[in-house]
Amino acid sequence: MVLNSKGGSGKSTVATNIASYYASQGNRVMLVDCDPQASSLEWLAARPSGRSTIVGVDASEGKFRVPRSIDYVVYDTPAAIHGKQLNAYLRRAQSIIVPVLPSPIDMRAATPFIKKVLENGRISRKECRIAIIANRCRENTNVYHQLDTFLRRLRKVPFISVLRETQNYNRAAERGLGIFELAPYLVRRDIDQWDPIIRWLNSKRSQPVA
Ligand SMILES: Nc1ncnc2c1ncn2[C@@H]1O[C@H](COP(=O)(O)OP(=O)(O)OP(=O)(O)O)[C@@H](O)[C@H]1O
Ligand SMILES: [Mg+2]
Repeated sequence: MVLNSKGGSGKSTVATNIASYYASQGNRVMLVDCDPQASSLEWLAARPSGRSTIVGVDASEGKFRVPRSIDYVVYDTPAAIHGKQLNAYLRRAQSIIVPVLPSPIDMRAATPFIKKVLENGRISRKECRIAIIANRCRENTNVYHQLDTFLRRLRKVPFISVLRETQNYNRAAERGLGIFELAPYLVRRDIDQWDPIIRWLNSKRSQPVA
């Protein structure tokens, strides 16, 4: 599940890239769009028929079943999730990625959001695991260094990767693809930046502690 109450932090971008990564690896993937804006479902509608299939679900239409054949369920969530609604989302998740942007407003908003998430019993019992990534970063900027310092200081939440600001995400998104599906020479740096995210997702660190 990709979650951050702040709008525009990259939830749909990260969710669609996770979905397309696992699908392109031969897994059966369900992409659940919980946002009435339906960015993930629109992305899926643009996906060429020849590409690995991803099953889209519009969660705003009510309850849905996950068929046994599905290997991965990826949730894209809306902005402005607080209180009881946040806890309802946390009940459904197993592994959560929180993308945060290098901007003073986003960093300020991240502090109470992460605090609320950490107060949730499933998170404190490690039944649901959480990690943070920095998104849309330009390395030689002051604000990126501020974000880096801020995220490193969050001792209870692993800060697993930094994604750069690049048009590659837009290039991929407009065609219903993930960056893993673009020409390798274009996205080498981005794939390197995704490597720790995929490793986290594939490791015990993202799985519930039994
Ligand atoms: N690393 C990146 N580099 C360049 N553009 C990016 C990157 N990540 C996201 N974007 C762009 O930033 C905008 C917001 O991203 P996105 O829609 O994924 O955020 P969101 O958190 O889902 O927003 P919302 O809260 O409205 O659902 C989009 O136009 C997206 O293409
Ligand atoms: Mg979105």
